[in-house]
Amino acid sequence: MRYFIGNWKMFGVPKSVNILNKINSYYSRDKNRNKYRVVITPPYTLIESYSRYFKNKRILIGSQNCYQKEQFSSNTAAISPYMLKSVGAKYTLVGHSDNRGEGDTDLMLKDKVRYALNNNLKVVFCIGENKIEKKNKKTLSVLTRQLTKVLEKKFNRNNIIVAYEPIWSIGTGKIPTAHELKKTTIHIKKVLKRIFKKTSPAVLYGGSVDGSNIEMFKEIKEIDGFLIGGASKTSKKFIDIIKNYYR
Ligand code: 13P
Repeated sequence: MRYFIGNWKMFGVPKSVNILNKINSYYSRDKNRNKYRVVITPPYTLIESYSRYFKNKRILIGSQNCYQKEQFSSNTAAISPYMLKSVGAKYTLVGHSDNRGEGDTDLMLKDKVRYALNNNLKVVFCIGENKIEKKNKKTLSVLTRQLTKVLEKKFNRNNIIVAYEPIWSIGTGKIPTAHELKKTTIHIKKVLKRIFKKTSPAVLYGGSVDGSNIEMFKEIKEIDGFLIGGASKTSKKFIDIIKNYYR
């Protein structure tokens, strides 16, 4: 199974559903549709209405984050996995570099993953090195640390997906070379196998993915899909990625 996950970040109002309608109608008719899954993570404000709207359609709706408590608490503006599940979210991102940058620690991320899994959300756990770490050739050790500090053998690996998003690649148009990316993805899968003592969960790539560079990414068979930011906010750009991937 391949994944095309669109992360809208701070984008979207109710009428933006039109973008998803177009993606959904392409997806429902695509002859390759059973080979992949499309998930969109709109902002919190749209999760309930979009989940209801796409309930019997193909697109799945997820959240961009969740709070590290399970159900209800006294934390102002916080939204728990239980609350997300109750309005129809099927997935949640955890550990996006935007949120790590705002203070999410490994300990907080571990609770987020645990509580999201307890509430039957599928978790897309994001990892990635920054520019300086890359320059200092620390990429693999940073990724190993991010994975081993948070993921545990007892977590249900069937509901976990890992998204590798190098921070220097997000929104910049810069992407790793095919050689680098293959090596990194193989490394991530090796670490995941070690953690879970079983086969690795799916590993996605994210960072400046678009309809033209997807040609390069599709050659790397170890990559199980993509986490797409900018290009997920336009139906044509998002559909082009899928089209060119299966061409
Ligand atoms: P871009 O595709 O805009 O680089 O964003 C990637 C990302 O952060 C998705 O979570």
